[in-house]
Amino acid sequence: MIVIDHSTDLNFAGAKGNYASHPMHSYAAKFPPQLPRWAIEEFTQKGDKVFDPFVGSGTTLVEARILGRNSYGTEIDPLSRLIAQVKCTLVEELTLLLHVISQARHPAIRDFLYIVFSSIIYTKGKGSMANVMDLAHSRPHRVMKDAPPDVEKAFLARLKRLRKMMEELWAQSEHQVEAKIVGNDARHVPALKTNSMDLVFNSPPMSMRLTISVGISSAYSGLPGRSTQHPKSI
Ligand SMILES: C[S@@+](CC[C@H](N)C(=O)[O-])C[C@H]1O[C@@H](n2cnc3c(N)ncnc32)[C@H](O)[C@@H]1O
Repeated sequence: MIVIDHSTDLNFAGAKGNYASHPMHSYAAKFPPQLPRWAIEEFTQKGDKVFDPFVGSGTTLVEARILGRNSYGTEIDPLSRLIAQVKCTLVEELTLLLHVISQARHPAIRDFLYIVFSSIIYTKGKGSMANVMDLAHSRPHRVMKDAPPDVEKAFLARLKRLRKMMEELWAQSEHQVEAKIVGNDARHVPALKTNSMDLVFNSPPMSMRLTISVGISSAYSGLPGRSTQHPKSI
């Protein structure tokens, strides 16, 4: 049995309780976070297990997580269980963003957002949201960041830039023509009829050689005199 020294001041009136996930949802008779914090620090060590049988909005579990204790709870009310679970479950920001994007109903909008998302990870220099330096090059270098990047800010900034690019494309384009990905494997393209293309213009895949290579061939063009078995490299 633990006896609390009565000179301990457990009055947290006026203490700020709006940090971490605590203010996520209103709840009647919430603990001030400082109260479970005090108990957890006073009576447990990192890695210990904490149980709150009346979890409510999860204040104890959130504090336990912050302080590195395992925590468990029971709660009879389903909404409270949900609030508590959400408040103490870590959802990585990138995962959350990816999920939100996947919910976009219009496929073109969804794909556009996926590319905005990808472009904040797969990028040159130190701007990547991942712990890498040059993912856009062949050998990414792992670099741990000093602090977690501001993913939301980067995503919104990139979204703005990409939107501008698409506006430019819209303004500069011929709107009557098609531009479509018609297959996955260039060795087998049933969507294109033989001799249906006027030009086949490509840069063939290379392993690690950094030669610039552009191929022009007419496998699908059927133009006399311009047909080559293998793409020319220039
Ligand atoms: C005062 S609230 C707890 C608030 C919590 N400390 C917080 O910071 O959000 C008490 C909770 O006990 C829950 N409760 C009542 N009877 C219960 C039971 N038999 N088993 C589990 N939870 C119960 C209620 O639904 C209520 O959410």
